[in-house]
Amino acid sequence: MPQTTLQGKTYSIRTFGCQMNLHDSERVSGLLDSLGALEVAEPADADIVIFMTCCVREAADTRLYGQCSSCKSLPAPPGGKRVIAVGGCIAQRDGEGLLTNVDNVDVIFGTHSIAHVGDLIARAFEEGGRQVRTEEREEAGATSMPWHRATSYHAWVPIMTGCNNFCSYCIVPYVRGREKSRPVQEIVDEVTVLVRSGVREVTLLGQNVNSYGRDLFGSSRFAELLRRVADTGVERITFTSSHPKDLLPETIDAMAEVPAVMPHLHLAVQSGSSRILKLMNRRYTREHYIELVDAVRERIPRIALTTDIIVGFPGETEEDFAETLSLAERVRYAQAFTFIYSKREGTPAAKIDDPTSREVILDRFNRLVKVIESTAFEYNQGSLDQTVPALIEGPSKKDASKLQGKSPWNQTVLCPLPACARVEDYVGKIVDVHVDTARTWYLFGELEGGAR
Ligand code: SAM
Ligand code: SF4
Ligand code: F3S
Repeated sequence: MPQTTLQGKTYSIRTFGCQMNLHDSERVSGLLDSLGALEVAEPADADIVIFMTCCVREAADTRLYGQCSSCKSLPAPPGGKRVIAVGGCIAQRDGEGLLTNVDNVDVIFGTHSIAHVGDLIARAFEEGGRQVRTEEREEAGATSMPWHRATSYHAWVPIMTGCNNFCSYCIVPYVRGREKSRPVQEIVDEVTVLVRSGVREVTLLGQNVNSYGRDLFGSSRFAELLRRVADTGVERITFTSSHPKDLLPETIDAMAEVPAVMPHLHLAVQSGSSRILKLMNRRYTREHYIELVDAVRERIPRIALTTDIIVGFPGETEEDFAETLSLAERVRYAQAFTFIYSKREGTPAAKIDDPTSREVILDRFNRLVKVIESTAFEYNQGSLDQTVPALIEGPSKKDASKLQGKSPWNQTVLCPLPACARVEDYVGKIVDVHVDTARTWYLFGELEGGAR
């Protein structure tokens, strides 16, 4: 068989959904680069347009259909023929069924078939027709592929794929398969290479990093992994997501004791009502969650606690919601992602009838957002008059004369770009910022000293 090549072709990738998709997209880019293709920003300039899709909520599905359709009105691409490829979680869920909603898709590749995307696209160019691959059991995962990272200083490092938890509302275990941990040494070697190439921060990824290693060793080895990754010399380690039912005391110890592990914990609560948590199959209670939060705060007092909360799970009553509000007030989150429940066909929760009106759910959602905004503001106020080290990511999106970075507590930090300096000289560097303004979603202050 001739060697696959995409020499001279241009490609553009649009990524939706979570960090796992972002990482998968970086691997798809790496593979296409290695086959000779060149990335361009706009689909209009691309011979290959790739959508990495998400189906965690309904809005994500609809967005894909709109985006695919809009490709029909693009001008002809540089090479004459355009191939549209759909990957990610909708591709895995629907396979060819996707074509009932969109008819201009040439390649469909599932979440387990990323290593084959180059061949599938090349075949779509050569043979035409539709190329589909969504088998669940593929030997080669995305992590074995070439890697085209979005930034030089930060890397998403999957430590495991899949999920075994089957929360009753969630589609992810059906589209990402069962938990599969990467070997410790493979992760450590990868981070070592990243550090040598200039990476300063890694984010360890998994749907439930707290159960890392259970499939390999019979029990979680996440705490040990944190310590081993820190031994590589990487300056900042962050991780997501952390399931409360599997958060072990030894993980809290590692967070408290290893300086490279950032003082930020994303601990998704989903609801403050033990009754709803049971219906969600989360396998912890409100009381247990609060105990965990207290234990974490005892070891790491200024920790930034963040969370995910779903409002309007089927059958949620005003009393249940009041418990979510009071939990958010008690925990005082630094930030939270709040979602309105979205029915996902095929999940157990989709079978539960719910008489609650959309207005009532929206009203609850807005009340929750107000509480989160007030605790987020309060959290950031704690940084006033402090000097925080910010890892600079680029210019502020709203004002190019400001630098934007991240503090160890996951806060967005802004400061003025010094006169005559260029943003590029700061990207990927750490600067000290003396905070004089603390708002709900960002800190602002003056640069102190130079970049390092
Ligand atoms: N594995 C992560 C965890 O448990 O923390 C969550 C991953 S999921 C991609 C991100 C968030 O989406 C979940 O924490 C949940 O709040 C939200 N989510 C998942 N399914 C949902 C649904 N059917 N409707 C609304 N929000 C949903
Ligand atoms: Fe979905 Fe639950 Fe798995 Fe998170 S832990 S991905 S919410 S099933
Ligand atoms: Fe979406 Fe798939 Fe992530 S459904 S949230 S992209 S695992």
